[in-house]
Amino acid sequence: MNKNYKDISMAVIRRLPKYHRYLRELLDKDIHRISSKELSAMMGLTASQIRQDLNNFGGFGQQGYGYNVEELSGEIQKILGLDREYNAIIIGSGNLGQAIANYAGFRKFGFKLKAIFDTNPKLIGMIIRDLPVFDIDELQPFIIKNQIKIGIICTPKEFAQDTANKIVKAGVSAIWNFAPIDLKAPEHVITENVHLSDSLFILSYLLSNQEKFS
Ligand code: NAI
Repeated sequence: MNKNYKDISMAVIRRLPKYHRYLRELLDKDIHRISSKELSAMMGLTASQIRQDLNNFGGFGQQGYGYNVEELSGEIQKILGLDREYNAIIIGSGNLGQAIANYAGFRKFGFKLKAIFDTNPKLIGMIIRDLPVFDIDELQPFIIKNQIKIGIICTPKEFAQDTANKIVKAGVSAIWNFAPIDLKAPEHVITENVHLSDSLFILSYLLSNQEKFS
């Protein structure tokens, strides 16, 4: 299927990883067909929301049959670009950088972690899982030589902008930023910020309101 997915709203795109996760779970359980009603009950979305979302990509469902899980999962994988491979590096080999390096899940989906960079001489030369920790001085030549597409920033926030500038200059096209600042990057560079605390604060809001009204 050759479609242009550029005009699809980000609200829909942001729901796709959840579809992907649930469909993979079904495949793991050897379930190959599911109705929109069953999928909606599982995912906590309405059946009409699911139909609307998937209609953006040309449907997939068949009246009276439901969805072919394998086909739908494969298509969502393609839409999300998970059928390709991306070379990635981590900058900052502290608690978070090492946790990301140790997590095997990303690699399954084509994110090829190549190395970690740090300024701390005690960490340089270590191997985290299978990733070498290199001196930050080697950052730019490494990016160029290894065609690194994604930079994962796990430095303290005061060094994050400088790190972003360096990796962008060397040719990185996407930044997965964990430092708690809004990075400035040229328009052609994709930046995705992750704030675990946002999610925690929503949890706190729900908890505090539950206590207020119960
Ligand atoms: P950490 O202090 O354990 O690790 C930071 C590492 O960065 C250290 O190894 C340090 O030597 C290295 N570093 C310092 N300056 C550097 C530079 N210029 N270039 C390369 N490496 C450098 O900190 P932790 O806990 O791993 O947190 C890392 C970052 O992630 C912080 O900015 C923190 O605020 C953020 N964070 C964000 C979360 C989120 O939900 N987005 C959750 C946890 C942490």
